[in-house]
Amino acid sequence: MTSHAVSAYDAETLPALATLLETRRSAMPDTLVGPGPSPEELSHILTIALRVPDHGRLAPWRLILIAGETKQRWLERLFEIAETRDDAAKARVSTRKLQSAPLVVAVVSSPIPGHKIPEWEQQLSAGAMAMNLLNGVNAFGYGANWLTGWHAYDPQATAMLNLKDNERIAGVIAVGSVTKPAPERERATQDRVVSWLEL
Ligand SMILES: Cc1cc2nc3c(=O)[nH]c(=O)nc-3n(C[C@H](O)[C@H](O)[C@H](O)COP(=O)(O)O)c2cc1C
Repeated sequence: MTSHAVSAYDAETLPALATLLETRRSAMPDTLVGPGPSPEELSHILTIALRVPDHGRLAPWRLILIAGETKQRWLERLFEIAETRDDAAKARVSTRKLQSAPLVVAVVSSPIPGHKIPEWEQQLSAGAMAMNLLNGVNAFGYGANWLTGWHAYDPQATAMLNLKDNERIAGVIAVGSVTKPAPERERATQDRVVSWLEL
């Protein structure tokens, strides 16, 4: 490995970082319980999340932290809204996934409409932020699961998050201590999705 690859890390740290990234996987949301990250750990995790490529330095995203009594109120309201939907049974199940985790982070894509940086690129940056958040959470020994579900799209549900007209939920990420590691799942193989360009 070249020594200039990541200057902030020494040769001992790099393999551990690579292993973390090579083996990371989500925890099932209902296996996430308290305690969640401490305020200091959370601050590091958020720093990692915000350290994301962002064409034009627009910061076209924001994060909403949902925890404690507010999370209880948010969930109660989600369950109420779920009952008004045509797919109430499904919506109820999907809402239950958010119950046990002590922290939920809504990653909001907040692109600037009409900017010379295409909205697609601004939205991609929010996706990268969600991924960085997962890696940050894992780096501090906690688990996470990137969800969306009905509540990321339902106007009554998103109204609780005070989304502006240009904003969308990129992810509702459940965070907590992992009680049961998720089994490994099949991954796309390199030979199926990677190719060398030949001209
Ligand atoms: C944008 C996005 C939205 C997702 N929404 C849901 C969801 O609503 N419900 C669900 O069960 N999984 C959802 N997933 C998938 C979970 O995050 C899933 O556990 C994840 O793909 C596991 O991948 P990993 O093993 O690489 O961590 C979503 C994934 C992405 C990227």
